[in-house]
Amino acid sequence: MASSLCLILFCFIFRTFSISDAVVPPADTFRYVNQGDFRDFVTEYAQPEYDPNYRSLPPFTLPFQLCFYNTTPGAYILSLRMGINRDQSMMRWVWEANRGNPVGENATFSLGSDGNLVLAHADGRVAWQTNTANKGVVGFAILSNGNIVLRDSKGSFVWQSFDSPTDTLLFGQFLKIGGPTKLVSRASTTNNVNGVYSFVLEPKRLALYYKTMRYWSSSFPEVNSPNVDIVNATLQIGRTEYVENYFNAFRCRLSNSESQPTLDFDILSYNSTLSYIRLGIDGNLRLYSYRNVRSSAWSLLFTMFDRRVSERGELVVDECQLPERCGKFGLCEEGQCVGCPSPNGVFAWSKDCNTKLPGCKASDFSYYQLKGVDHFTVKYTPGTGPVKQRDCESKCTKDCKCMGYFYHTDQSRCWIAYELKTLTKVGNSTHLAYIKTPIQ
Ligand SMILES: *[C@@H]1O[C@H](CO)[C@@H](O)[C@H](O)[C@H]1NC(C)=O
Ligand SMILES: *[C@@H]1O[C@H](CO)[C@@H](O)[C@H](O)[C@H]1NC(C)=O
Ligand SMILES: *[C@@H]1O[C@H](CO)[C@@H](O)[C@H](O)[C@H]1NC(C)=O
Ligand SMILES: *[C@@H]1O[C@H](CO)[C@@H](O)[C@H](O)[C@H]1NC(C)=O
Repeated sequence: MASSLCLILFCFIFRTFSISDAVVPPADTFRYVNQGDFRDFVTEYAQPEYDPNYRSLPPFTLPFQLCFYNTTPGAYILSLRMGINRDQSMMRWVWEANRGNPVGENATFSLGSDGNLVLAHADGRVAWQTNTANKGVVGFAILSNGNIVLRDSKGSFVWQSFDSPTDTLLFGQFLKIGGPTKLVSRASTTNNVNGVYSFVLEPKRLALYYKTMRYWSSSFPEVNSPNVDIVNATLQIGRTEYVENYFNAFRCRLSNSESQPTLDFDILSYNSTLSYIRLGIDGNLRLYSYRNVRSSAWSLLFTMFDRRVSERGELVVDECQLPERCGKFGLCEEGQCVGCPSPNGVFAWSKDCNTKLPGCKASDFSYYQLKGVDHFTVKYTPGTGPVKQRDCESKCTKDCKCMGYFYHTDQSRCWIAYELKTLTKVGNSTHLAYIKTPIQ
């Protein structure tokens, strides 16, 4: 008993000693300062459009390189770029350290002998760090798949950038329950703070949200039983079982305790592991692939909400499912904004189409009806019901924040809407919308 305790204590001391003893060799430490000229190669300008100024840093593993970039003068983000100068074409930003917390001129990015990777303002204040001081780090590397890692002496990753995605998942990168569970969109081309959209791995499904409102989800029969949950989702391009061999699928491989369900987003015509998916500023999910071909280095291979021909040869148009497809308010049909509803009828749509604030007291507003339309939440959330339409309306009436409600008469289901945004025409007269409007 005493001897085993002694052994444990010895191991503990030995372990503590050996870990704190490990240091990054001087030749592998670095300190880069954010100063100097900008590079003049064009970077992103496709979707979304942002072509920032940037300065590249020495650590790179083709086609990946760390850079400082800005989309607002003087506000820099430390980011991983994908694509090479020789291409003279687009490069993409596929990982970033300090979204929402930019640094200025003369900021420093350094790896000290203690193993902590630090991004600091010019005055020394820490803007971002990996919190890996004295945790056994002996080296830094950018791997060939774009994962930035800090390794210990055994080669294990003490820290990896794949654990902290923002809006992008590189091939092989994953979301996991208990780890990074989501991607969050960027607010705008100029403003790099969190936007309103997220792509989330949940125990029972993958889902897309506008704020807290779900506008897409995929659930899996394999995880329907109460004690089986998804634990992991990895972006992959894999061989499909159901199409000829030389075609590959853009696929999300999920894992749980019992099986490995997959979600195939689309069938692709070739295999490139230099691919990534991004949740765009507009809430759409897109897959890009890097081909290292001079004329067209990047291909957009898949767009979640798009117009395309399905495997069965039908034309699928589902851009109306994007919450802000028609801006603040609008009727959407076949991917087009076709109308601006009002109490006096439907007018031509423009960007200015909006609802008026209804006021809070029930005597201050009334409802007008739209037939054959759905809210973007209807398709992927159950709403409540069966419930009487009167009760659905009264729920909305009592709630100041409710802008209107959606009701399916055939199934007596009710959805309350706090934001209206895009309403989709469904040509089904059992689907009704009631929009609040102030009484003048
Ligand atoms: C950055 O540092 C250099 C000296 O290395 C200095 O000349 C320059 O003024 C600094 N820039 C800013 C914006 O502080
Ligand atoms: C999740 O997937 C990654 C990449 O395939 C793998 O390294 C990791 O072990 C997986 N984790 C779990 C809990 O399955
Ligand atoms: C895709 O290419 C990678 C290497 O580029 C290879 O390892 C992988 O097996 C290929 N996948 C398929 C499904 O052909
Ligand atoms: C209308 O929608 C309901 C589901 O809410 C569906 O059962 C019904 O078949 C639809 N009717 C038409 C004409 O599409």
